Amino acid sequence: MVDKQSIHGEWSSRFVFILAATGSAVGLGNIWKFPYITGENGGGAFVLIYLLCIAIIGMPIMIAEIMLGRRGKQSPINTMRELAIEAQTSKVWQIIGIMGVFTGLLILSYYSVVGGWTLAYIYFMGTGTFSSVASSDTVKATFGGLVSSPEQLIMWHTIFMAMTMSLVAGGVKHGLEKGIKFLMPALVILLLVLVGYAMTLPTFAKGIHFLFYFDPSKLNTASVLVAMGHAFFTLSLGMGAIMVYGAYLPKKTSIIEATTVIVAADTVIALLAGIAIFPVVFNHGLTASAGTSLVFQSLPLSFAHISGGIIFGTIFFILLAIAAWTSALSILEPIVSWVIESLKLSRLTATIVCGVLIWALGFLSAFSFNILGDFKPLAFTNIEKFAGMNLFALFDFLTSNILLPLGGLLMAIFVGWFMRREHVADELDLPQEHILYQLWHFLLRFITPVGITIVFLHAVGLLTF
Ligand code: TRP
Repeated sequence: MVDKQSIHGEWSSRFVFILAATGSAVGLGNIWKFPYITGENGGGAFVLIYLLCIAIIGMPIMIAEIMLGRRGKQSPINTMRELAIEAQTSKVWQIIGIMGVFTGLLILSYYSVVGGWTLAYIYFMGTGTFSSVASSDTVKATFGGLVSSPEQLIMWHTIFMAMTMSLVAGGVKHGLEKGIKFLMPALVILLLVLVGYAMTLPTFAKGIHFLFYFDPSKLNTASVLVAMGHAFFTLSLGMGAIMVYGAYLPKKTSIIEATTVIVAADTVIALLAGIAIFPVVFNHGLTASAGTSLVFQSLPLSFAHISGGIIFGTIFFILLAIAAWTSALSILEPIVSWVIESLKLSRLTATIVCGVLIWALGFLSAFSFNILGDFKPLAFTNIEKFAGMNLFALFDFLTSNILLPLGGLLMAIFVGWFMRREHVADELDLPQEHILYQLWHFLLRFITPVGITIVFLHAVGLLTF
């Protein structure tokens, strides 16, 4: 098992793997979610906690997940079966892969709807919907008009899914790799252009201060939990996305080094996105705590009122679309690879089958903003937090706060407690006595599972802080 290549192919270099995994990690989570949860949780203090979570929970799990993938070299379900056999333990561990497929279907179905918004906004920005006369009412009406129209939402969602499927259908070398090699450098260049632009604004210092000023009085337990949940989402951990990318990783690459680069890149890009966004938002006298509408309402409004805003606003939404696209690839790939392996379909057919299924499931999210707006599946619970959720919010909550941490927890337990240490050390290419190995193994066995359990219990409402 150790020497053979995955039947799906291999990345052509370690650099391409790093680009692909960074492309997976950097997505709507970094540019759409991170700035607004930072805003809602008080800025700098939250950023610090988030960084701690990345280091203590995110990194150890990412190393474990890549390691599992490379050792199994198949889709997450079959990888987990093979590794369970190797560890001489129950095949029940396949549940990690099975849950991952289910989680992936749900995540991509709503992720693609928001991906569609980013495409719509490239169009709105580019065609001058937000010109200098745009008032806050125009901006609100534009967003409202988009989400209240099932046809528009479905149209953009369809385009986004088609973009995602087109690269996955090409396979590892001729689809994913080709796209990623072009898209990731473009993403970095666009982001740097936007940061440069933010530096010219008078509110630049205010933005930096907001993002990095540490005010301990703003910290509370709830923000710690939000930060932990986000660490999973932003690093694409817990559903097999990173595992399947690891399955295509050539043997000689050091997993620990690669993980360090990926995590650092994801974090730097999230911070740069914040540096690009907050000065623009503050420039129009808006506040940072605008919630989900920060990027789709506050930002367009601000862009409309500064010189060059239309051009830089368009660049911003192109950047957001690219980030979402390279992430969506990694959500679809583990599902498609499993369908290829188990149903013996061609990659093209498998991509169409999975893609169409997810596309159809996405209708539920798209309709959550209009015709199904009043459908609150958990209304019967009478728990305020759950009762108000529409399907879109429920899918996001269920995946980010329950299924991903649960998947990550199971991976940590499997690797930390069930796999043979010599196999782990061999795959990591690190002697068991090495200080890095020891530190990682300790975190994975003890600290990480406890940390995740706390998030998890909180999420299902068993613990109230
Ligand atoms: N990490 C991506 C983001 O920040 C989203 C993502 C891609 C993801 N693949 C994933 C989240 C797998 C969870 C699991 O937007």
